[in-house]
Amino acid sequence: MQRIIVAPSILAADFSRLHDEIHRVEAAGADWIHCDIMDGHFVDNISFGPEIVGIVRGLTNLPLDVHLMIEHADHYVPRFVKAGANSITVHVEPEAKHDLATTLRQIQEAGCRAGLTLNPETPFDLIEPFLHKIDLLLIMTVHPGFGGQRFRADQMQKVKRARSLNDKIDIEVDGGIDPRTAKLSITNGANVLVAGTSIFHSRDYATAIRELRGE
Ligand code: DX5
Ligand code: ZN
Repeated sequence: MQRIIVAPSILAADFSRLHDEIHRVEAAGADWIHCDIMDGHFVDNISFGPEIVGIVRGLTNLPLDVHLMIEHADHYVPRFVKAGANSITVHVEPEAKHDLATTLRQIQEAGCRAGLTLNPETPFDLIEPFLHKIDLLLIMTVHPGFGGQRFRADQMQKVKRARSLNDKIDIEVDGGIDPRTAKLSITNGANVLVAGTSIFHSRDYATAIRELRGE
């Protein structure tokens, strides 16, 4: 079986101690660092931008997995590439206001892995035409914008469908991931677990990460 990748979302980290948080999560066995970028337009929250991603880049050699919940991602992609992103995921919904094929090509030509994602309300059909053009697929298991929300098990059918259509791609789940929902996601075909609350709000990051992997 494929090794499960754990990607802590720093949205739930203590930003007053970001340096320490990144080092602790790395020492605890994190595989990637997930950076949630929110613009207050595509989602109803504002998080951080390329400056902070650049700071995180300086703190770790782990791959930086950048999730853009923003409008006009194509305009900002170069700044996140420059900041040190390894993978960049963009939203498929028309409200994200960009040409998907162009943005995906732009990300790949810049040397990054390109990902596509969809909200829980968005039908899987919108993703299907791109399934063999992307490097990773991120299935939102909460409505994006905030950490700490409840996992939506109804999204597992999308994970299952994606895995049945492409057994090579990385399939990432994001939102409400804890040991129980991680197990369910893995059973359905996911191999990358994004988790904010269940890692950064835990007492022992190493135990939290091990439990997500089902160890
Ligand atoms: C939600 C973000 C998630 C979020 C996950 O908009 O995309 O990455 O940080 O947080 P938890 O694990 O707390 O649901
Ligand atoms: Zn995310």
